[in-house]
Amino acid sequence: MKVPVITIDGPSASGKGTVAACVASRLGFHYLDSGSLYRLVALYADRVGIDWDDEPALARAALTLPVAFCDGGVLLDGNEATEAIRAEHIGIGASRVGALPAVRTALMQRQRDFRVAPGLVTDGRDMGSVVFPDADLKIFLTASADERATRRYKQLIDKGESANLPQIRQDIIDRDQRDAARPVAPLRQEPDALLLDTTALTIDQAVEAVLSWFAAKSSDC
Ligand code: DC
Repeated sequence: MKVPVITIDGPSASGKGTVAACVASRLGFHYLDSGSLYRLVALYADRVGIDWDDEPALARAALTLPVAFCDGGVLLDGNEATEAIRAEHIGIGASRVGALPAVRTALMQRQRDFRVAPGLVTDGRDMGSVVFPDADLKIFLTASADERATRRYKQLIDKGESANLPQIRQDIIDRDQRDAARPVAPLRQEPDALLLDTTALTIDQAVEAVLSWFAAKSSDC
């Protein structure tokens, strides 16, 4: 029997990861944060001295990267990497390595391997368009750049880190442009994806919207 998949694609800092993880937990499904794989490739490259433009070396690393996901955290080569992959410059590196076709191809099967019963909720940029084109429910989750910058700013301040709101906003816009302009798997709402604009929604409201769409799709079958 086909294992159900819900894909939630969208721009950075839109809250898609939080919503996807909550939906997965409510349904008892597995969860894949595909951006973490791109972040891990960027972090690994940074640590071992591979340039973020060296496509063949990055693709080799992406194929063999020793990664383990456990208890909401991630290990790289057996070492804790949950916080390290969230650093701003690693996010920029992830966007750079994600623009390379060979890296995307190398990560494809790793992502598909997460499709295990009873189901999967996944978030990223091309989950519905490329990795799981037969997904049961495809969502494009977004929020205005101002709202996303404010959310990211609050997160950093809550963590006790210094943050500059205009700079964060500019980084978000630059990242969106890079992710949308690339020829492979660009960031965009596909025709078969439902739009969920969370600018004026709480996380709970966004989660409920996804769950009700999924319930409606399931009752159609
Ligand atoms: O979702 P995120 O912010 O953690 O993703 C970081 C970068 O990784 C993002 O700017 C582009 C890249 N990425 C991608 O190219 N494809 C995905 N499915 C997920 C992330």
